[in-house]
Amino acid sequence: MAIKKVGVLGCGLMGSGIAEVCAKAGYETVVREVNDQLLSKGMERIKGSLGRAVEKGRLDAGERDKVLARLHGTTAFEPLADCDLVMEAIVENLEEKRATFAALDKVLKAGAMLASNTSSLTLTQLAAGTSRPDRFVGLHFFNPVPVMKLVEVVRTLVTSDATVADATAFVKSLGKEPIACKDNSGFIVNRLLVPYLLDAIRALEEGVGSVEDIDKGMQLGCGYPMGPFTLLDFVGLDTTYYIANIMFEEYREKRFAPPALLKQMVQAGRLGKKSGRGFYEYAKK
Ligand code: CAA
Ligand code: NAD
Repeated sequence: MAIKKVGVLGCGLMGSGIAEVCAKAGYETVVREVNDQLLSKGMERIKGSLGRAVEKGRLDAGERDKVLARLHGTTAFEPLADCDLVMEAIVENLEEKRATFAALDKVLKAGAMLASNTSSLTLTQLAAGTSRPDRFVGLHFFNPVPVMKLVEVVRTLVTSDATVADATAFVKSLGKEPIACKDNSGFIVNRLLVPYLLDAIRALEEGVGSVEDIDKGMQLGCGYPMGPFTLLDFVGLDTTYYIANIMFEEYREKRFAPPALLKQMVQAGRLGKKSGRGFYEYAKK
């Protein structure tokens, strides 16, 4: 199937990155947010990212303008109706995602593909609520989307071979590297990464080391680009908390259980870089 026009649901941290790479790769891209304020915040994030690429000489200004011309924001579902593929990147919540897919499914043209960027929900339960489970696939991008090369392509029991082939070809057309994953909670990467991040919080709770020293330990001792607390702040503590709850519910293993400190930080509004404070403080622009 030829994909020409794509839709993105959600223009937060991930949705803005996904919309950016799609428009950069030449696709007409429509991105939906819940209200005008969040939409303009997301669009500003994309403009900022493209602006930095121009400053660094990775993109020329003329090309940036063409990318922006391919990007369209909306708060409605109708402008997504003629998309060939719609990727969902809204809050990590089963009911919200189900309701959003149900509303989209009503207007989206027959044969169009649906994808979710969920970190931890199994896709079968999302696909089952739509009229096209054979055209439903997981496309799990990594943060920051413009930089990270990987996309996990997740098939359910009912995803068709043609859908997997179309989705894999699409990922390659973005300049990303696909890997194939089974539909288990956390797929490949989060199955390994999430227990590590949660364990870093438990190590902090137990006084094993400070935030800075644990980060320095993993950066300088293991060559990780970011220590676990910098990465937690980067991913978002709210998102990490939702992911941990879903994975714990799924596996019932302590390594996936959200530590008390994570829960309390979310309750206190310390969501990481996005709220200006998480394990570290971030100066406001
Ligand atoms: N958007 C666009 N470009 C960005 C960017 C962003 N948010 N952040 C950094 N970059 C670009 C920079 O412009 C720079 O590009 P050039 O070299 O062309 O100038 C390049 O990335 C490197 O950036 P920096 O030199 O500023 O910083 P760095 O070398 O420390 O790299 C990083 C930044 C790529 C984010 C690196 O720290 C890293 O790889 N961190 C780990 C990220 C990670 O683990 N992500 C996975 C999170 S888990 C997940 O996504 C799954 C989930 O479901 C939760
Ligand atoms: P975020 O909180 O930054 O953004 C989510 C956005 O979705 C918000 O702007 C919200 O207004 C919007 N939204 C909520 N309901 C919506 C709806 N019905 N229609 C359109 N927009 C809606 O979250 P995020 O970090 O971008 O995460 C989004 C998804 O991507 C989650 O499923 C998350 O698990 C997954 N993910 C996150 C990361 C990460 O590092 N943060 C990495 C990979 C995957």
